[in-house]
Amino acid sequence: MHKTTLITGGAGYIGSHTALTLIDAGQHVLVLDNLSNSCHESIERLEHLAHARVDFIEGDIRDTALLLRLFSHYDIDAVVHFAGLKSVANSVSHPLDYYANNVVGTLNLCAVMARFNVFKLVFSSSATVYGEPAHTPILEDSGTGFPASPYGRSKLMVEQLLTDLALSEPRWSIALLRYFNPIGAHESGLLGEDPNGRPNNLLPCLTQVAIGRIPELTVFGNDYPTVDGTCVRDYIHVVDLAEGHLKALQVLHSDGGLHIWNLGTGIGYSVLQMIRSFEDVTGVSIPFQIAPRRAGDIAQCWADASKARRELGWCARRNLAQMIEDSWRWQSSNPFGYGHAVQLSAALAR
Ligand code: NAD
Ligand code: WQD
Repeated sequence: MHKTTLITGGAGYIGSHTALTLIDAGQHVLVLDNLSNSCHESIERLEHLAHARVDFIEGDIRDTALLLRLFSHYDIDAVVHFAGLKSVANSVSHPLDYYANNVVGTLNLCAVMARFNVFKLVFSSSATVYGEPAHTPILEDSGTGFPASPYGRSKLMVEQLLTDLALSEPRWSIALLRYFNPIGAHESGLLGEDPNGRPNNLLPCLTQVAIGRIPELTVFGNDYPTVDGTCVRDYIHVVDLAEGHLKALQVLHSDGGLHIWNLGTGIGYSVLQMIRSFEDVTGVSIPFQIAPRRAGDIAQCWADASKARRELGWCARRNLAQMIEDSWRWQSSNPFGYGHAVQLSAALAR
């Protein structure tokens, strides 16, 4: 039987890109996803790009009986764990869903892993665990802060849970990957981000304005102490992020313990710079209006990713123009994402 990497949440945005990267690197993967924020179409497209069938199970990480069956049936030797809920705004109105999926779900997964002597885990954490940073760029040992939302706090809780686990048992080998702001899409235009309803994140808002699904962009605040008054973030291409997971897995196979790595580019762009770059790259103009600050936003943050470069031999290789070009290709070839009428054959025909 093949050694298998279990990818939870592998039908989602970052998970599907990572699944492809791992398959391209010769790994056998098993995707588990409850499709609460994704759909089967992403798996079909993944199979098309991978030129192979992908083992996919529709199910929930909180379903212990299902996990026990999967770990019995497959020779799982590592888990890349994306499954969880990720909307900051929704987490404020539905905190229990966030703690149940993100914290209880992870706890359940780890308990089953331990039962089957599987101790290698890559976890999707977030720069949100730093809270309002005292300094930029942010280093891994800057210390975590007080994340502004239940979503962010669920990520910090899982980091703490996993840290305790690694301390309790030397066989655990865990990577906490702190992503900055993932954007972009696979260069084929077949995989990308497909938010439910009106998006919250900047890039999907920009592309949906450009495609005409949203009339204009709202810029939240222009009175921050930044280069032009708008917030600054470290945007990273989702395929660079996926490659970071491959490198992290490789290190976990040789090195035990708990590792924390920032995955970012080290470069910050303001919201206005993003709008201008988007217009330059795509030639589409973006109408926008300035609105008051959005609750919970920090002024600026970008990564110091030198630890990942040193220890993983990884760095982000795709620049902002490529991130925007790929996001736009994805959005313009799939104006309504995966769902709706646009299916693989139609997307391929574009
Ligand atoms: P996504 O919503 O596209 O992917 C998450 C996937 O997990 C979805 O396919 C969803 O259906 C699935 N899922 C949710 N709850 C589940 C459960 N209980 N059991 C099984 N499957 C479940 O999100 P994404 O952007 O790909 O994010 C992946 C991970 O990275 C998440 O944990 C997220 O919190 C984290 N993260 C994302 C960002 C970002 O900006 N996208 C930044 C930092 C961290
Ligand atoms: C970026 C900037 C907005 C939309 C969030 C989560 C974080 C991680 C990544 C998941 C901010 C501004 C946005 C719009 C705007 N997520 N903006 N108009 O807030 O840095 O991070 O996503 O794990 O945990 O907090 O990303 O893309 O929402 O916002 O002006 O319509 O764009 O105010 O300054 P953020 P974002």
